[in-house]
Amino acid sequence: MANGNHIRRIGLLTGGGDCPGLNAVIRAVTKSAVARHDIEVFGIRDGFLGLIEDRIHPLGFEDVSNILDRGGTILGTSNKADPSRFAVGRDAHGDPIFEDVTSRVVDHVATHRLDAIVCIGGDGTMSGAARLADHGVPIVGIPKTIDNDLMHTDVTFGFDTAVSTATDALDRIRTTAASHHRVMLVEMMGRNAGWLTLHSGAAAGADVILIPEIPYSLDVVCDACVRRSKKGRAFTIVAVAEGSAPVGGSVVVDHVVHESPDPIRLGGVSEVLCAQIAEQTKLESRATILGHVQRGGRPTARDRVLGTMFGQHAVAQLVSGELNRMVAMRDGSLTTVPLAEVADKQRLVPPDDPLLDACRAIGTCFGERT
Ligand code: F6P
Repeated sequence: MANGNHIRRIGLLTGGGDCPGLNAVIRAVTKSAVARHDIEVFGIRDGFLGLIEDRIHPLGFEDVSNILDRGGTILGTSNKADPSRFAVGRDAHGDPIFEDVTSRVVDHVATHRLDAIVCIGGDGTMSGAARLADHGVPIVGIPKTIDNDLMHTDVTFGFDTAVSTATDALDRIRTTAASHHRVMLVEMMGRNAGWLTLHSGAAAGADVILIPEIPYSLDVVCDACVRRSKKGRAFTIVAVAEGSAPVGGSVVVDHVVHESPDPIRLGGVSEVLCAQIAEQTKLESRATILGHVQRGGRPTARDRVLGTMFGQHAVAQLVSGELNRMVAMRDGSLTTVPLAEVADKQRLVPPDDPLLDACRAIGTCFGERT
C-alpha cells in the first residue's frame, strides 16, 4: 500500500477512562501498520503521562496477539495528564501546581522520531491531542467512551458493551424488585450525556428513565411509581443517569479530582432520589450505583468489530496524509473529522432522538411534566 505521507514510525496511546474494546483498537492499529504499511509502532504507557515521562516502547505483533477479547488496555491509561496543564506538585495548601509541559512532549516525540501519534480517547484526550497538533505533533484520533458523547461520530466503541452490562444489571434488579415489591433505582455513568441510561433503560424496559438532557420533576416520578402500584404492578424500575438533575436543581457531585482536565466526578443522584421517593410515596425503595463495572469486562462482538475498523482506518488515514483528524462513524460509513471540531465539545441526546419517542409511545416516564 502506498505510504504517501512517508510515515515510518508512529506512537500509540490510550487516554482518559478505559472502556471495553481498547485492546481491539491497539491490535488493529499495530497489525495493520506493521503488516500492511511497514510502519514501526511504539506503545506509549498511561496515555499522555507516558508522553510526558518518556515511557515509550516498541510494540510488535507478539505484544498484541491474543488481546482482542480482553477488557481494559494493555498500554494503561490516565485521565489526569493534560500536557498543557500538568500537575507537577502541590503548594503549601495541598493544591496542585500546574505547568505547561507540552515542550517535553514535543522533545520526546522528536527523540523517538515518531512521525505521528495515534490517540485513542474521549473528548478530554481529543482536546489534548488537538493542542499537541497545534504544536506541530501530527495526530490521528480514535473515539472511545462508554458515554457515547463525542461530537461528529454516531457511535464510540465501548458504548455497546456498557449498554449490555447495564441492561444485564437492570434485568437482574427487576427480579428482586418484583419479589420485594419495591421501587428500585439503578444509576448509570455517562457524565452529562444520557445515552447509556437511555439505551440500557429502553433495552431493559425500565418504567422511568431519567437523563441529564431532560430535567425531572420529583412529583412526576413519584406519581409514576404510585400509579404503577395502584394498577397492581408491585414494583417500579427507575434507570437514572449520574448527570440527571431536577427541574431548576443541580447535579449530585461525588468528588472532585483537581488534577484532572475534567475534575468533577458525578455520582449519588439515585441515593438522593431513592430517599425522596420513599419519603413521598411511602413505597419501599432501594438504590444501586453500577459504577465502574460498566467500564470493565470483555468487549461485545460489535465493539471488537468497531474497534478493528476504527484502528485500521486511522492508520490508513495517516498513510494517505490525513492528519489532525479523528476517525468517525457517520450514517454507517467510516470517515474523519477535524480534531478541532471535536475538542471541548459533548454530544448530548437531542430532543428529537427517535428512541425517546419510541419509549414515550410505550409509556416510559422521563420525569417531565406533559
Ligand atoms: O467518561 C467515562 C466515565 O466512566 C464517566 O461515565 C464517569 O462519569 C467517569 O468516567 C468516571 O471517572 P473516574 O474513572 O475518574 O471515576
